[in-house]
Amino acid sequence: MVKDAPIGVFDSGVGGLSVLDEIQQLLPHESLLYVADCGHIPYGEKSPAFILERSRQVAGFFREKGAKAFVIACNTATVAAVADLRQDFPEWPLVGMEPAVKPAAAATRSGVVGVLATTGTLQSAKFAALLDRFATDVRVITQPCPGLVELIETGDLNSPALRVMLQGYIEPLLSAGCDTIILGCTHYPFLKPLLAQMLPPSIILIDTGAAVARQLKRLLGERDLLAAGEAEPAQFWTSGDVCHLSNILPTLWKYPGVVRSFGA
Ligand code: DGL
Repeated sequence: MVKDAPIGVFDSGVGGLSVLDEIQQLLPHESLLYVADCGHIPYGEKSPAFILERSRQVAGFFREKGAKAFVIACNTATVAAVADLRQDFPEWPLVGMEPAVKPAAAATRSGVVGVLATTGTLQSAKFAALLDRFATDVRVITQPCPGLVELIETGDLNSPALRVMLQGYIEPLLSAGCDTIILGCTHYPFLKPLLAQMLPPSIILIDTGAAVARQLKRLLGERDLLAAGEAEPAQFWTSGDVCHLSNILPTLWKYPGVVRSFGA
């Protein structure tokens, strides 16, 4: 692998752009490739086997592009695919993500933590193991959010439908006394402005995008693979509608970027 090779970043849709932004900020010299599997969204309700197959397609695509590292910027795909992909490519720096249970358990004062995530993430053995490990001293209220990702994918982050759905998902967390809420899906950080209007100001929101960027930097640094020159502009592919992603990209990504079709 060469230092100026790109980094592949992947999500079921636009959610991973919240992680891509953290990577861009921390590692401005890196050239970034992003695949949004919008043709198969949402992953939250799909089988782990299906998600693993899709993740393998994307990993193969990034390998062909010579990517020096692979970031699964999706909690749901991480639980379904990260272990197998690590076996497939043992030498390839690979970063997955999981809901930030440990920092949330440290942050809560009320002792009650809420988790907003997809059904797939919340039902996984990996998530259960995370709770066993880090949440023994706090109460954790989990809230699956079917339908939320599809509304975020429209690119309208302030629609009445989105507000109503989100209200329905945060209500049980507030009633249970949560003072800390984990955004356990990479789409949800895009809801922070809306959540700031809907939640009491004392509520702490926690997501893992910045931690993933730091982990990526650490892995690349260990292998002497950090780029130092000028980065290429980020490139985007979608398995869904290219026009739609091109239209909403400027709302979600503040840098230039061209969108192409991902056919695999
Ligand atoms: N963005 C993905 C995550 O972090 C899931 C979205 C989906 O359900 O497709 O879990």
